[in-house]
Amino acid sequence: MTADQQRMEKIVSLCKRRGFIFQASEIYGGLNGAWDYGPLGVELKRNLKDYWWRVMVRERDDVVGMDGAILTHRAVLKASGHEDTFSDPMVDCRTCKARLRADQLPEKSGVKQCPNCGGKDLTEARPFNLMFSTQLGASAEPDAIAYLRPETAQSIFVQFKNVLDVSRKKLPFGIAQIGKAFRNEINPRNYIFRSREFEQMELEYFCRPEQGMELLDYWLAERLRFYENIGLARKNLHVLTVPDADRAFYSKGTYDIEYDFPFGRQELEGVAYRTDYDLTQHQNTSGKPLDYFDEETKQRFVPHVVEPSAGVDRTVLALICEAYDEDTVTDDKGKSETRIVMRFHPRIAPIKAGVFPLLKNQPALVEKARDVQALLRPHMNVFYDETGAIGRRYRRQDEAGTPFGITIDFETLGERAPELRDTVTLRDRDNMKQERVRIVDLLERLANAIA
Ligand code: GAP
Repeated sequence: MTADQQRMEKIVSLCKRRGFIFQASEIYGGLNGAWDYGPLGVELKRNLKDYWWRVMVRERDDVVGMDGAILTHRAVLKASGHEDTFSDPMVDCRTCKARLRADQLPEKSGVKQCPNCGGKDLTEARPFNLMFSTQLGASAEPDAIAYLRPETAQSIFVQFKNVLDVSRKKLPFGIAQIGKAFRNEINPRNYIFRSREFEQMELEYFCRPEQGMELLDYWLAERLRFYENIGLARKNLHVLTVPDADRAFYSKGTYDIEYDFPFGRQELEGVAYRTDYDLTQHQNTSGKPLDYFDEETKQRFVPHVVEPSAGVDRTVLALICEAYDEDTVTDDKGKSETRIVMRFHPRIAPIKAGVFPLLKNQPALVEKARDVQALLRPHMNVFYDETGAIGRRYRRQDEAGTPFGITIDFETLGERAPELRDTVTLRDRDNMKQERVRIVDLLERLANAIA
């Protein structure tokens, strides 16, 4: 096993042990391609989505949000091209009956092989549509078919006119959405990287045709900045200019933002200039106008669009891979041990601070610790822990990626030196340094670090 494979195994095991990610339907053998997020995972994911929403919507004058339905009218996905062309090439292995993606088969001496059994007796490749369909109500008629959306983007295009009318935005402006998407992937793999149910964070940024290429580069730069701001090192991020032959026919330019996962360099996000393809398709198919009237030039036209489209789950996985670290610590008695520490940026860390009374059998310490917890709680996720030696409590929070540890000790009670009354020990997860901080200064100090 390579070092990267070992690292990935350790990450997967930590994620289960500490409650970041569980296999969906696990007690029934698991559901392939679906994952459940545990108590730490859901906080991490929520922090990521909240930060995306904050910088992409709330801190901008030119973007508004929406939240569309997952169930999607068949006509929408017919017009967008998904019903006819949203497919991957599939082959069957005649030996072990595995269904495989034709474009991901390993080759030996130029001959494609089944990755499961090594068999070479494979069927011809045929397209396999990735959309999940479902039946609306009790009717068995074909027009009762609806799809679970394969991307959040289409509901934005379909609601373009409604959102434009209510928000009264002028071009260029964007509509953002975070939500679930579903794809019946032939081979879900690499943990949560490629799954059948996942979440996307998408912005459709509408503009004039002549602004498209410039905005493509603008959004690429913005999105790279975003990933750095959540703690992904720039050296682990890469930009792939998608070659003409691999781009969707309607796209005039696409970048993939890739990340160095332990299993290889893979796509985190696509930033695509989709021209006026989607709005034009929906306008022509529905017969409803989806154009824009420019008050200044008195021109009416269908806007073009630039789309940064990110995967929530893939970004969560990148954050977990980036954060995972092991180092050696020496305790008070001089004993060394290896600690696992998740070095999450404080902004996205699931728990911001652990609050620890030095001893749980001292009511005055416990009461003070509960006061500190109550002080911070309305502003951030804090975790109160009074069990076990203080070193063990620190270690548990290191594994959860909690950037700060706050210990309430006898100094806090003013028993050692009056000037230390109402101060606590603030421990930094990364360098393990400890300093005395006044309780009245704690909130501001932590709030600045997690902003
Ligand atoms: N609206 C454009 C669109 O959906 P995409 O490249 O197919 O483009 C965008 O998907 C992002 O959604 C990807 O970069 C990835 O982060 C995420 N994504 C796509 N398929 C996924 C899957 N099966 N599992 C997890 N994330 C996925």
